[in-house]
Amino acid sequence: MARPGRAGGRRMTKLLEVSGLRKVFPVRQSDGTAEELVAVDEVSFAIAPGGSMAIVGESGSGKSTVARIVAGLETATQGSIRICGDERPAGRQSRGKRKHFARLVQMVFQDPYSSLDPSQTVRSSIEEVLREHFDLRTAQRLARVTELLEQVGLDSRQGDARPRALSGGQRQRVAIARALAVEPRLLVLDEAVSALDVSVQAQVINVLADIRAALGIGFLFISHDLAVVRQLCDDCIVMFQGHVVDGGEIATILDAPQAEYTRGLIEAIPRPGWRPVRRGVAETA
Ligand SMILES: Nc1ncnc2c1ncn2[C@@H]1O[C@H](COP(=O)(O)OP(=O)(O)O)[C@@H](O)[C@H]1O
Ligand SMILES: [Mg+2]
Repeated sequence: MARPGRAGGRRMTKLLEVSGLRKVFPVRQSDGTAEELVAVDEVSFAIAPGGSMAIVGESGSGKSTVARIVAGLETATQGSIRICGDERPAGRQSRGKRKHFARLVQMVFQDPYSSLDPSQTVRSSIEEVLREHFDLRTAQRLARVTELLEQVGLDSRQGDARPRALSGGQRQRVAIARALAVEPRLLVLDEAVSALDVSVQAQVINVLADIRAALGIGFLFISHDLAVVRQLCDDCIVMFQGHVVDGGEIATILDAPQAEYTRGLIEAIPRPGWRPVRRGVAETA
């Protein structure tokens, strides 16, 4: 896990510090009564500037809830989120505060289609983000759009296209370009490559790895796929039923998992010579 670094004898400010996070959702039962669902409990972790942290775990373990709270799309029931030392206030925020945190953190979702305006070209959707956050002259803004398109591997013709004309991988590149336009310090990616075909997924992973190397931007990368996580992150936490059950450097976690749950998760990754372990069935050679 990210260790507190030291710069000039002072403790370096962490990029992200999540402490004691808890999220309870009210869930209405079929008989009309309300129950509480604890989606996330006692979750704490930190990312150093430019660091890369993965959250892995099966569906329903609370990964997206943590991501959404970090990105400010959901508020925590308890606990705190500090980004570059600034605590994200709970509850409704002023426009100024929202913008301040949007400059620090951007999020990329599994399905970019829903966040892209079908009537807008790729170029104008990126321009829109630049207008919102920066005071640029038109020529500067257009040059920046070109730079962002290049960064995610889209050409000028694709820049003039509308989302419908693009493939899933290309649309995800647009979503990444719009997030990068803000020049965030932290990029939260929630199953951002999970819906893509394997070959397209590999290309988008390469784009993300290049971006990390070039910009020194921090990643909070959520995935249920440990093989993907390994390619992009240095550290990881493992979640199970809302709790962190394991954590550390990816190499250590995946090669020498301590928690029984993590061992089970790794067993489920298909690899050459892999055969699923069938519970209750005697192994035969
Ligand atoms: N808005 C919500 N209202 C009620 N329950 C929710 C809501 N969002 C998530 N949950 C529940 O919280 C738990 C964790 O969900 P989630 O964070 O999406 O997990 P993951 O991303 O690991 O699949 C699940 O049981 C899910 O059904
Ligand atoms: Mg999820």
